[in-house]
Amino acid sequence: MTVKLGIIGYGGMGEWHHRNTTGIKDLKILAAYDIDAERVALAKKNALELKRDSEFTGFDSLSSILKDNRLNTVLVATPNDTHKDLCLAAIHAGKNVICEKPATLSVQELDEIIAAAKEKKVLFTVHQNRRWDQDYQKVKKSIEQGYLGKVFSIDTKLHGGGGIIHGWRAQKEHGGGMILDWGVHIIDQILDMIPNKIKTVYCQTLSILNPGVDDFFKLLITFEGGVVAQVEVGTFCLRGSFRTWHTCGDKGGLTLTLDYQGLSGGITRVRQFNNKWESKIIETYAGPTRTFAPLSPDQVEELSLPEVNPNWNEFYENVDVAIAGKSELIIKPYQVRRVIKVMDACFKSSETGAAVIFDE
Ligand SMILES: NC(=O)c1ccc[n+]([C@@H]2O[C@H](COP(=O)([O-])OP(=O)(O)OC[C@H]3O[C@@H](n4cnc5c(N)ncnc54)[C@H](O)[C@@H]3O)[C@@H](O)[C@H]2O)c1
Repeated sequence: MTVKLGIIGYGGMGEWHHRNTTGIKDLKILAAYDIDAERVALAKKNALELKRDSEFTGFDSLSSILKDNRLNTVLVATPNDTHKDLCLAAIHAGKNVICEKPATLSVQELDEIIAAAKEKKVLFTVHQNRRWDQDYQKVKKSIEQGYLGKVFSIDTKLHGGGGIIHGWRAQKEHGGGMILDWGVHIIDQILDMIPNKIKTVYCQTLSILNPGVDDFFKLLITFEGGVVAQVEVGTFCLRGSFRTWHTCGDKGGLTLTLDYQGLSGGITRVRQFNNKWESKIIETYAGPTRTFAPLSPDQVEELSLPEVNPNWNEFYENVDVAIAGKSELIIKPYQVRRVIKVMDACFKSSETGAAVIFDE
């Protein structure tokens, strides 16, 4: 089977898919449609330059791209508020659908898509490509391999200094704001890592430089089994790294920092618990302490973060085998639904100031 793809919405991300998937054997990108004729012209130019698929067609209407019988799959890469209608139109035309994240602005919208895809017996998935991020995979592998013991806390932050959000991302009615833009990736990562049921969602949002949308949010998810995850995203913090992780388990702790220069971090694991209560106060640079006194080197061991080798091509390779019925989707509709349900709860919590009891 080959994924024969048409791109709807040839903006930044539509073009990214076109240019960054040339190495995938079973993917042909045969067409594009955008409401902006200049973007369609660019798609045609790129197709020639990339020399990937000679029979590339640029379309000037939604109905014409959806009538193209060569295409078995459509990628929707338009502003967030347009996803639902475009996905439904493509599904009704009998196409498999890959939607850019966030699939929809609410669970109700997503349920319409999932039901339509089921009825038309086509595949629906979402480009949650940050499951293939190195930093995330290192944290996930550390947990899975048991390096940290029973994990009870995951804390991750993403900060930039750009401040101003541009275009439709700065407009609420188009699905702008950071919960929908980056929150969707990070929540997906956390839920993929922690299988436990969610108990509560508490979220506070701020609009620092972008009135009308959240350009800063802090989110707390509590899970059954005593796991707490905290996520913080901000577009205007002038110190701090791009992305950080701090994860604690009952046998070890992990820190990871990802910035524009590279990735660093490590794991500290306990060799033996010190069950003796130290009555002596220890003098440290951080002041006198007993409970927070440093452990001695014979009590702990230092490990490097595990090696991972993620490959973003796996997303399309999986779609290809899933269309052929030979494998499950990696990004499953029910997982997408859970993430969007958490985002719904974030907006509700931020509005009411209270934690939302998560019902699942
Ligand atoms: N997975 C990722 O890492 C990632 C990264 C960036 C963006 N995205 C997602 O991709 C989507 C597009 O974002 P972008 O940054 O490319 O935006 P963009 O503004 O650069 O491009 C959007 C394009 O869609 C076109 N468009 C708008 N309405 C349309 C319609 N009804 N029919 C056809 N074309 C239409 C616009 O003319 C524009 O060319 C968003 O959902 C965004 O969240 C995902």
